[in-house]
Amino acid sequence: MSTQAPPRSHSHMWLVGVAGLLAGLALMIYVPTLKAVSGTLFLVAGFHLLGALIALTSIRITFRSRWRRSRPRVTSTSQSPLDFGWAPAWTLGPLLFAVVLWALAVVIELSWPLWWPVAFLFGLLGAGAFAGYLIAKTTTDAHFAPLPMVDLLPGGQGVVLDGGCGAGRTSLAVANAYPQAKLVAVDRFDSDYIQDGGRSLLTRNATHAGFIDRLQIAQGDLTAMQFADDFFDAAVSAHAMDHLGHATERGLAEMWRVLKPGAHFLLVVWVPGWMMFAVANVLSFFLRGRAEWRALARGVGFELLREGDFNGYWYLLLKKRAP
Ligand SMILES: C[S@@+](CC[C@H](N)C(=O)[O-])C[C@H]1O[C@@H](n2cnc3c(N)ncnc32)[C@H](O)[C@@H]1O
Repeated sequence: MSTQAPPRSHSHMWLVGVAGLLAGLALMIYVPTLKAVSGTLFLVAGFHLLGALIALTSIRITFRSRWRRSRPRVTSTSQSPLDFGWAPAWTLGPLLFAVVLWALAVVIELSWPLWWPVAFLFGLLGAGAFAGYLIAKTTTDAHFAPLPMVDLLPGGQGVVLDGGCGAGRTSLAVANAYPQAKLVAVDRFDSDYIQDGGRSLLTRNATHAGFIDRLQIAQGDLTAMQFADDFFDAAVSAHAMDHLGHATERGLAEMWRVLKPGAHFLLVVWVPGWMMFAVANVLSFFLRGRAEWRALARGVGFELLREGDFNGYWYLLLKKRAP
């Protein structure tokens, strides 16, 4: 497979760390000056500790993925040898956000008791962010199903494309579901929220899971893939097409092009809703909705076979219509 697309960074996860750092510093510096709070030594010490904890977690979130990139990580093999390499900003970000919101709720309640409805609202938002943390955690563990059970490859034989494979979480799911199938996992391998963009972990995970002999790894861009027309017998793309922004239609059209007529394509994306609000807060308002995804898929020539919610995400099972 040819290699193309020089590594490019396209994530803003570091913003989570900076926001947490600011919140932590605010708690450390500002809160003790509040009259009601500074009344007791216990609360002053408590808020300093909380502020320090948030600030340190934020520093870890902001810098750890960079440290990990330059320093190979020794992963414990005592539990699962599989590691999907997610940066702490992704897994810990919503938790940090929840702690900040809860701390704010306590500050408001103690300092301005009449503003209790605002404190209550912050408490609720904190609970939502904590739910988001639990949802985000499901992507770290191979015990959680990474793909919905759908009829992706009738007959079970052929070559399946995993578009935007990262460290191979979804490739693993396909390999397990279809032991006779061959896989091609394609990615730019440049994301800064996955260790090494996923490339080395993909090889490592596929080796541990026993499907490395059936796997071909290709570096490439989903919007201009290096494969021939009508090549694949099926395809999946989970949490990747929704990273393409204005190029989404091009990515879907590319997926259509490389599939054989009649082949199925399983698309998993984030759509607006309570679950995604928990994970991404206000960012979830900017997500593309279900109707738009359906229209885009139909527009490039797919037939819609099935759709549904899955672990808080949404999937579409599509079929390339025979010409
Ligand atoms: C959130 S990860 C999903 C990884 C995997 N599918 C999973 O569900 O665990 C998104 C992946 O899409 C890849 N990606 C985003 N835009 C891409 C593009 N234009 N071409 C190829 N890969 C891309 C990123 O590099 C990243 O590995």
